[in-house]
Amino acid sequence: MIPVNGKERGIIYTFYSFKGGVGRSMALANVAALLAKWGHSVLVVDWDLEAPGLERFFGVQDLRTKRPGIVDLVQARKNGESLRWRDCVIEIDVHGSSTRLSLITAGRSGPDYTARLHSLNFPELFDHGDLGSYIEELRNEWVSEFEFVLVDSRTGVTDIGGICTVHLADVLVLLFTTTESSVEGAMQILERARKEQEHLPLDRRRLLAVPVPARDESRTEYERAAEWKKRFAEQFSELYRDWLPSGKTALDAIDLLRIPYIPYVELWRAAASNRGGHERPCELGPRVRDTGSHSCDAPRLVRGAERPNTCSSADAQAPRTR
Ligand SMILES: Nc1ncnc2c1ncn2[C@@H]1O[C@H](COP(=O)(O)OP(=O)(O)OP(=O)(O)O)[C@@H](O)[C@H]1O
Ligand SMILES: [Mg+2]
Repeated sequence: MIPVNGKERGIIYTFYSFKGGVGRSMALANVAALLAKWGHSVLVVDWDLEAPGLERFFGVQDLRTKRPGIVDLVQARKNGESLRWRDCVIEIDVHGSSTRLSLITAGRSGPDYTARLHSLNFPELFDHGDLGSYIEELRNEWVSEFEFVLVDSRTGVTDIGGICTVHLADVLVLLFTTTESSVEGAMQILERARKEQEHLPLDRRRLLAVPVPARDESRTEYERAAEWKKRFAEQFSELYRDWLPSGKTALDAIDLLRIPYIPYVELWRAAASNRGGHERPCELGPRVRDTGSHSCDAPRLVRGAERPNTCSSADAQAPRTR
């Protein structure tokens, strides 16, 4: 939470990667489930409107045919109809957590989803509709109700991605892999978002970034991975410096944050054995109840133990307050 005008409010973390398929949605789902397990209120939003599917990680894909989401909200606003974001929320119970995790999908799924998405001209809605103020409204309501809002963004450089990286984000979680274009794309999007935020007619704190090496292969490609780690540290040291505690280096942060690439079956086994049980990660088969709320486990992809204060590899924490 951060204090604003004497009140505490939550923080919006936008998960962004320049390229697709790096494990962005999986990381977001893991972080959300762990935060809920630790007792925080969390809202996750699938804003990857062109390639949606965040709900799969929580095993509630069937509900997307029934429940509206982001596309429906924007469409309703465009047509002057009333649809509340609260009517879009799917509540998910995370095992072992007393708090709930709320999910808003990209939009009601069905044969007309793509046509409905393409009927929305986002630049036009910003210029001649009131999409900018509507997004600001959503943003303010979300951060007043949730401690953490995690937004899954579109990849590349797009108008829809710009909503997530420029308009919504307090913090950009930048996932990248060991390719030049992935690293440069992450830097470019941050620079662009910072520049565009300066032109918003709204009050914004400096946009922070958490660079996260995804699909880390240190376990199998040690030397190559070590070279890349040095390269990442050089490229992103300034971004880490914005929020790292003194005495900690970019390399410490990279060690703590990197997400190992684990072939799937191994991942499932590791997650099960870490809990000493046979339970499966969300994506592999959460237990869905009929009560209207839906339950899942937290897979243990995010390294750093069960609670934030037990992280051992470094004292580094993702930025939460400024
Ligand atoms: N750390 C990991 N180790 C092994 N497999 C992973 C890991 N993270 C994700 N995966 C696998 O890679 C696939 C892609 O992951 P995910 O959907 O999270 O990527 P994404 O970056 O969100 O992709 P997209 O851009 O298509 O939305 C997943 O189905 C998952 O099986
Ligand atoms: Mg995804």
